[in-house]
Amino acid sequence: MSDDLRVAVLGVGMMGSFHASTLSTAVKGATVTVINDFSAGTAAKVSAGIPGSRVVADPFEAINADDVDAVVIATPGAAHEEQVLACLERGIPVLCEKPLTTGIDTAYRIVQREAELGRQLIQLGFMRRFDTEYAELRALIADGGLGAPLMVHCTHRNPDVPPHFNSEFMIRDSVVHEVDVVRFLLDTEITAITVHKGLATSRAPEGVNDPMLVVFETSTGAVATDEIYVRTGVAYEVRTEVVGETGSALIGLDQNLVRTTTDGRWGGTLTPGFVQRFGAAYHAELQRWVNAARNGTIDGPGAWDGYAAVAVCEAGVEAVRTGQRVEVRMSPRP
Ligand SMILES: NC(=O)c1ccc[n+]([C@@H]2O[C@H](COP(=O)([O-])OP(=O)(O)OC[C@H]3O[C@@H](n4cnc5c(N)ncnc54)[C@H](O)[C@@H]3O)[C@@H](O)[C@H]2O)c1
Repeated sequence: MSDDLRVAVLGVGMMGSFHASTLSTAVKGATVTVINDFSAGTAAKVSAGIPGSRVVADPFEAINADDVDAVVIATPGAAHEEQVLACLERGIPVLCEKPLTTGIDTAYRIVQREAELGRQLIQLGFMRRFDTEYAELRALIADGGLGAPLMVHCTHRNPDVPPHFNSEFMIRDSVVHEVDVVRFLLDTEITAITVHKGLATSRAPEGVNDPMLVVFETSTGAVATDEIYVRTGVAYEVRTEVVGETGSALIGLDQNLVRTTTDGRWGGTLTPGFVQRFGAAYHAELQRWVNAARNGTIDGPGAWDGYAAVAVCEAGVEAVRTGQRVEVRMSPRP
């Protein structure tokens, strides 16, 4: 349709190709017009599956193309800063995959630049906020259904990950989701972080602490834990339990899946990967972003949420390195 939001997708590896496909096949009001990737072969292959799209080799040319109204950034974190800033300079909405950037100073510079413009143009890809279970849990807490929240217990397990997932990368790339979940559910900031490194699985490469137990302290005094274990060999298991003064609630039990009782046994199937668990959330995230971007704004976690997550993960990486409790350093919100 002629009034569709015309979107450029930068970086069409695992996440970007999924977003491009969802935008093109399932999201209303959007057309993917431009595909960009450092790998010409990858870009050509993905573009071939997206009718009406063309390949633009340079990411900045893609951002500034005449047939682009908004941008999805799914390049690796190190490329985000320059690409997000280029979207801000052009004044167009951008959905940037987490992390916002890979450094606290660069993330804050982006927050400041957006504040100078006086318009919210940056949305962060924290898709769990669009998952029905997380949204219902947040509403339950906000409505006082659990009384004052005292503790949060998170579990984040993957069946396997590529070898570059070392201890620090696990904090920046995986734990970052729980950082946002805790901030989202409790509506508070994380003030300090400690990382306990126990016995590593024999599947972990030499020197990699997998699993780890992360402990977050928050500004209300509520404590949150996150077991991060990315080489379980089992399935994708993401669970969150909130313990309040008058009750507790647990999500992530794959209750949507069929339970079987056969041969005197009962059970079901765990989700094999993040797409099966959060596919609907990615779709909702993109649909709401497209609706908002057509009006020149965002509808979801913004640059400040991206900055806060970077700040906590920066402290988390220091906690891994030093074995100490590390306080989160955040500059004031502009
Ligand atoms: N929200 C989520 O649940 C979720 C899940 C997975 C990944 N991610 C995030 O998505 C981003 C991409 O992750 P991925 O797993 O798809 O990685 P990937 O390696 O599969 O894909 C990245 C792609 O970007 C291309 N690329 C690299 N540098 C580029 C540049 N400067 N300009 C243009 N293209 C470039 C690469 O050639 C590759 O095709 C990361 O920020 C990651 O943290 C988010």
